[in-house]
Formats: sequence, C-alpha cells, structure tokens
Amino acid sequence: MQAQVWDNPLWRSLLPLGRDEQAGGYRRYSFTAADAACRDWFVQAALQRNLRTEADRNGNLWAFWDAGTESAAVAAGSHLDSVPDGGAFDGPLGVVSAFCAIDVLRERGFEPARPVAVVAFAEEEGARFGRACLGSRLSSGVIEPEAARELTDADGVTLAQAMAAAGLDSGRIGADAGLGSRFAAFVELHIEQGSVLDGLGAAVGVGESIWPHGRWRLDFAGRADHAGTTRLGDRRDPMLPFACAVLEARAAAKDTGALATMSKVAAVPGGTNGINSAVRAWLDARAPDDEHLIRLVDQVMETARAAAATHGVSFRAERESWSPLVKFDLELQDRLVTALAHAGITAPVLPTGAGHDAGVLASVLPTAMLFVRNPSGVSHSPAEYAAPQDCQAGVEALAVVLTELAGR
Ligand code: GLV
Ligand code: MN
Ligand code: MN
Repeated sequence: MQAQVWDNPLWRSLLPLGRDEQAGGYRRYSFTAADAACRDWFVQAALQRNLRTEADRNGNLWAFWDAGTESAAVAAGSHLDSVPDGGAFDGPLGVVSAFCAIDVLRERGFEPARPVAVVAFAEEEGARFGRACLGSRLSSGVIEPEAARELTDADGVTLAQAMAAAGLDSGRIGADAGLGSRFAAFVELHIEQGSVLDGLGAAVGVGESIWPHGRWRLDFAGRADHAGTTRLGDRRDPMLPFACAVLEARAAAKDTGALATMSKVAAVPGGTNGINSAVRAWLDARAPDDEHLIRLVDQVMETARAAAATHGVSFRAERESWSPLVKFDLELQDRLVTALAHAGITAPVLPTGAGHDAGVLASVLPTAMLFVRNPSGVSHSPAEYAAPQDCQAGVEALAVVLTELAGR
C-alpha cells in the first residue's frame, strides 16, 4: 500500500515543483513560475481524468466531475501554494487526495447524483501578499477587490501587477454570489498540523473548529546611524522596541493561553555596522476565543508603543487580517463522523489553531475538514510528514465522505 501512494503519478509529478533543493522545502508563492507549474499540474490532473476545468475570477482552480444534473456540487480540495520552505503536504495533500478519491469512486463504479469538484484555492498561506486565504476570501466576499488589488509583496509588486504577469485579469476579481447555491458542501482534507491524532492512534480525524486568529503589521521607524560612533543615549534604534514587542508577544501568549509569533521581520537597511532606520514586523496571534486574542494583541501593542516612546522611535500598527472563530457545520460534521464509522473508520473530532479555506467558506456554505495524522507534529517546515498508509487512509475517508454527500 505504501508504494501505491508515492508511485501515484500525481505525487510523482507534483513533488519536484517549487522545491528548493538546498532547503528541502517548497517555495510555491502565488503567481510565480512555481505557482504556474502547480497550476499546469492541476489542469493536467483534471484533463487526465476527463474533468471539466475552470479557473475562476479569483485565481482559484476547479475541476468538475459533472453528473449531468443541475444539482449543487460537492467540492473537495485545498491549496497548492506554500509558506517559505513549507512541507510537501500542507495544501497539496487535500488536492491530490481529492483527485485520488475520484479515481477510487470511479473504480468502484460510483455514479454521483450531484457534481463532484476538486478545487485549489489561490494564495491560501498569504506568503506573498500577507492576506491568508486570499482566493477563498475574495470568492466569499469577505475582502473588497479594490483593497486586494493594492496588496503588495515584499518587493512592492501589487496583486494586480502579479496577476497580470501571470496572465490573469485582476479587474475581474471579487465575490462569487452563486457560491452558496452552486455548492452544497466543501470538504477540505488537510494534514494535521499537530500530533493529536498520533496520540489517539487514529489515521484520520474530523475538524470541529478553528481558533480565531489574525495578522498585524508593526512598523517601527527610527534613525539610521553609525554603530561605532553613535553614543547609546543618542540613538533612535527601532530594533529595541521591536525586541520588547517580541518578548511581550511570548509573555502575553503565555498569560492568555494563546499563541503569538513574530517571524516575518525586515530590518532596514540591515547593515552589520549601522543602526537601522526601520523595522517592519508581522505578528501572528491565535487564541481559543476572541476575548483572549484581543487581550493578547492589546498587550503587545501597548508594550511596543511604550518601548518605542522610550527609545525615540515612532510606532504604527495595522491589522492585516482577521479570522473569527469558526465552528464547522455541526450537522455536516456529524454526518461525516457517522458515515466514516459505518465504513469502519474511527475519526476523532478535533479543533485546530491553523487557518484554512474551509474556515473562510464556512460563512457561505456548509464546510467540513478531514485531518490526516502527522506523526512529526510539525508543519510549515520540510519536516512535516504523513505516512503513505495514512495518506491512503485519507483518500479512503474522503471517498467515503464524497459517497455520502454526492451519492444517490
Ligand atoms: C495557515 O496555514 C495558517 O494557519 O496560517
Ligand atoms: Mn499552512
Ligand atoms: Mn493549508
């Protein structure tokens, strides 16, 4: 069974795309060459299966197994973009498994009563433009197209420019009003980004909720100067309040039972023998509920502001994205657990602190998630891992779920 998974041409053709040989991780940033290669891969996978493909206005890719009916479709999938040096599974596992589940259903002679779709959402990680789940946010209307077009990457390239370079028209991006009526449900299969399933001895699980989370930009502006001649008291070093903010993020997270991370940082100009003129940093914060999340962020901002004043540095903070608590559709969740149990699959129900397109789409249609065991417990890293037999169990679970949701 192990060989079956990696010998699958879908994995074989996808694994090399956008992989950095030295780091061993993936750099599949939206609207780049690596992204284009992944998009071609998706279209080829769909064509090989005789699925009708559609690239929507927001850069999301769809492949339809039409059932010859006008009924609302059931969609499964995830995303193909990655964080910097991401693992092989976060995103792609959901897309590959959706194609594989269709193969399994066809082998079994399953005839869908409603269309079954595979989807790959654009810019889920927000690694290039900062806004997580951008493709699904645009489609579900929770971000204004004008604001999205102006998002910039680290080089100042706007989303509009990047889409144009990839041959896409950003003038057409925006809400898909028909999403809620054309789709009956969306099921996102994803590698677990923790090791709860491993602890429970289960190969697959069902998603219960997603913690509220968000991203904030912190800009510290000081004064560039000479490291060897500027007396300590004369400095306006933005690195100092930034360091206070990093430590406060950790302390506040501990206080509130939450998680806070400052990982993306730009020190400008970043010379070894000079004081920086600016530090730009991003805070990623997540908590079990809104109240704790807001408390945590307030605490970090207060400390950053006070430290900036102490060091003669100006400080500005802006919320980049906000994702409220998501409780997945309980009826759909129960239906999945029951169908899986009938198929002999025990799938524990678990919450997650990670963001997903399923969480965004939950505001417009019933959504659910399936998780696949990750014994490493690690994600957003090349160390992320799912065993071949667990990937196979995920495909089987997804096939069961699609049979339940799209069957007669
Ligand atoms: C996506 O993986 C996120 O949780 O940021
Ligand atoms: Mn991710
Ligand atoms: Mn993901």
